Amino acid sequence: MPSEVDVNALLRTLAAAKPAGCCLELGTGTGLASAWILDGLGPNGSLTTVDNEPKWLDVAQAYLGGDSRINIVCSDGDEFLRQVNAQATRYDLIFADTWSGKYRSLDLALDLLLPGGLYVIDDMLPQSNWPEGHGAKVQSLMNDLAQRSALQISSLAWSCGVVIAAKL
Ligand SMILES: C[S@@+](CC[C@H](N)C(=O)[O-])C[C@H]1O[C@@H](n2cnc3c(N)ncnc32)[C@H](O)[C@@H]1O
Repeated sequence: MPSEVDVNALLRTLAAAKPAGCCLELGTGTGLASAWILDGLGPNGSLTTVDNEPKWLDVAQAYLGGDSRINIVCSDGDEFLRQVNAQATRYDLIFADTWSGKYRSLDLALDLLLPGGLYVIDDMLPQSNWPEGHGAKVQSLMNDLAQRSALQISSLAWSCGVVIAAKL
């Protein structure tokens, strides 16, 4: 499921607001959102993007691998979050576009945000292809995020449904 064009445009704008930013995408797919984030970033920005499916990453690598600002990682997202949490790396922008860092390992992902850093998720509005019970998971995640005093949240009923949270 590639990200929608208007969400990608939003991501590009947010990346442009942090031109030297250190960005993380969880769920590379074939690299569509990665391309837009790179387009927004300045020459000193960087993007690490993680997926566990080599055949998607091969596409991202073919189209984006020549950009020195991108680091394409083949890993389970939860395992990646655990490893990076033990290191000093922190991020200005996290786009959590898979289960890891969104419906799983949320604390680990949010711990990786710098103050002023932005956490972005999409697909928060009901969709016909949602499996049974997914709506309750979405609501639970929204409630969880809304209760976190360390985050300033906007929930946008726009496009496929986007939440942007800034870390205080
Ligand atoms: C919604 S798609 C990502 C779309 C992508 N961001 C884009 O802009 O086109 C979700 C991706 O998460 C990946 N994925 C699923 N489970 C994962 C896991 N445990 N760890 C890492 N990636 C995972 C899938 O292979 C898939 O490419």
